[in-house]
Amino acid sequence: MKKISIPRLREMKEKGEPITMITAYSAWQARLVEESGAEMILVGDSLAMVEKGFSGTLPVTMETMVDACAAVTRGASVPFIVGDMPFLSYEVDPSQAVANAGRFIKEAAVDAVKLEGGRERAGTIQAIVGAGMAVIGHIGLTPQSATLLGGFRVQGRDVEGARRLLDDARAVEAAGACALVLECVPAPLARFISERVLIPTIGIGAGAGCDGQVLVFHDILGLYGDFRPRFVKRYVEGGRILKEALAEFVGEVRQGIFPDDGHSFGLDESVLEELRKP
Ligand code: KIV
Repeated sequence: MKKISIPRLREMKEKGEPITMITAYSAWQARLVEESGAEMILVGDSLAMVEKGFSGTLPVTMETMVDACAAVTRGASVPFIVGDMPFLSYEVDPSQAVANAGRFIKEAAVDAVKLEGGRERAGTIQAIVGAGMAVIGHIGLTPQSATLLGGFRVQGRDVEGARRLLDDARAVEAAGACALVLECVPAPLARFISERVLIPTIGIGAGAGCDGQVLVFHDILGLYGDFRPRFVKRYVEGGRILKEALAEFVGEVRQGIFPDDGHSFGLDESVLEELRKP
């Protein structure tokens, strides 16, 4: 299979072929996502919550994100792999953003970085693209600044908010982003925006009118407890299945069923006989 490129993603949008993106945070997860056939992998800062046990995404560091990205690029080679820039790794000034984006590219070999924000991030996106790196934008509900948005809520529900999102999408595109994540945006507005930008839009909680869809690995597989926002579809109760397997192991050890001879290594009796000799 050929590596997925930016022109291929653009071609998919033009032809109306849905793009699929799934998050991954380690080599084994990346391998599974690649084998699913998804075109894109996002090493999201959701890692902070689903892998590291934080209650939000803000605490995750550059070191943790770059390390996870490097594992993901070792685990998959065909999908277009995107590293999510963590909170305060790009907001200080464009030179900080370029330097940190460069770490994702040089140390982890990702294909693009993603950062949150619309018009206020246009200069930053321009600087990173100007330095030769690909950027994916992210507007709508931007979890890193959820407090300013009034919490984790759908964005763009009134005329003013909807116009702001359309302007943000256009600004991110004009700044040189190669794709745009739309998170928690009313479906008709996400479709409207997707029809007015040339770059592919990837939706999460943004309806079927986006050019692609992204979901978090753990949400698809039922690996993140009972957390189930409206836009998440769980395709398997993975947590329950895995828990049952682990409990079976514990039970078999306690009952002396495991390990049996089939899972142990034998030894010629003469070896122990020799050891028993005084
Ligand atoms: O961090 C993440 O997983 C994300 C997606 C939900 C878009 O940003």
